[in-house]
Amino acid sequence: MTEDLKSSAQEFLVRYGGDQFPELFTSAKGSIVVDVKGREILDFTSGQMCATIGHNHPAILTALEEAGEKAVHMFSGMIPEVVVKLAEKLSSWLPSPLKKSLFVSTGGESNEAALRMAKMFTGGYEVIALGGSWHGTGAGASAVSYASDRRGYGPSMPGTYVIPEPNAYRCPIEHCRDVCDQTCLKVGMNMFDMASRGEGAAIIAEPILSAGGVIVPPQDYFKTLKAEAHRREMVLVYDEAQTAFGRIGVPFGAEYFDSVPDIMTVSKTLGGGVPLAAVITTDTIEANVHEKGFTFYTSHVADPLPAAVGLAVLATIEIENLVLKASEKGAYLRARLEDLQQKYEAIGDVRGAGLLLGVELVKDRESREPDHELGAVTTRRCFELGLSMNIRRRPERGAVWRIAPPLTVKESEIDQGVDVLDRALGESQIKLKKNMVRGMSIL
Ligand SMILES: Cc1ncc(COP(=O)(O)O)c(C=O)c1O
Repeated sequence: MTEDLKSSAQEFLVRYGGDQFPELFTSAKGSIVVDVKGREILDFTSGQMCATIGHNHPAILTALEEAGEKAVHMFSGMIPEVVVKLAEKLSSWLPSPLKKSLFVSTGGESNEAALRMAKMFTGGYEVIALGGSWHGTGAGASAVSYASDRRGYGPSMPGTYVIPEPNAYRCPIEHCRDVCDQTCLKVGMNMFDMASRGEGAAIIAEPILSAGGVIVPPQDYFKTLKAEAHRREMVLVYDEAQTAFGRIGVPFGAEYFDSVPDIMTVSKTLGGGVPLAAVITTDTIEANVHEKGFTFYTSHVADPLPAAVGLAVLATIEIENLVLKASEKGAYLRARLEDLQQKYEAIGDVRGAGLLLGVELVKDRESREPDHELGAVTTRRCFELGLSMNIRRRPERGAVWRIAPPLTVKESEIDQGVDVLDRALGESQIKLKKNMVRGMSIL
């Protein structure tokens, strides 16, 4: 049966990118995913960065059941009670003046909605994003995503611009080393001004650039970015797909950087694994675009089932005190990773916030040449030893493990994961040295 399904997977599924795993998977619970052979694998990616309260949390299952009894889906023009409850709850989490929400299904979709809103509000169409960003795969969101492969899909949206990302470890303009002085931002905005048609709409940014290699901008970066946006009559959009609701040890990136955007999108961590996302804005912007006829009408806008789950996720984060736990466990995990850094010259940098951590691999600490081969071999070995980790591989921009277990992860699971990483890294270095002697490459 298992082997049959594996060959059916080859026969009937479109291959959509990403890693290939040797077995199919059957179930997930807490910080563990299980494959068809019954092998338990520690999940340090929280699924696709969504399962902050752990896989299949009982609160999510109860919400699904309740939605099953009441309503799963409705005509998009009907507003289910539970959607209003979620909007109200969300506003109690949000930094002022963010207040009004529109609920959709995915992160990419929420960014499409945010960009449409920004364009209608400002009357412009030009959008700036940061190098290394990832905002989704739709036409608008992929146009402003620079961590993804842009080749082969035809023209991008007109009016999209990229500015260099504030990566202190690997400065994209080769100006800073270890402390970003934001020259990248000045240069980027000057280049934008040269190219702009004077029709600015938005700057969109992840508070911590995750797919780009867990890049944490300097503390006052977003205050400057907001001022630069407003000076050009553009709005600032934060894509908090990964940073919202406690992952980074505070409720939002907006709080971490003490700078509130004009529009915020949240997604992955709101549904805890169920497709749910939101675009959130101020009374002023909502009223303005409503007046101009704003529409974002989809089959699943304001659906009751995901809203019920969103309410359950937020309640669980509150009841289980997960924002504080992310900060405490993040500090513990980080300390353990920093110990590994003492042991392995190949770990050039450990960075991040809360339980969104990055570990960058280099051939040597002086040149900082990325060690993609060590990254690939170690990631594979970790999986063999029961730890699932995600490595961000960008040719000139580093090999970075993104380490982000659920916020409910136990200290013993952190220890187990780091011990596996330690063993896998040691073994992989030995294997690669042997191969080097034999003149072989594993990549
Ligand atoms: C920061 C960020 N924004 C948006 C997205 C897209 O979200 P989705 O895959 O739900 O469309 C992602 C996905 O990884 C993301 O990391």
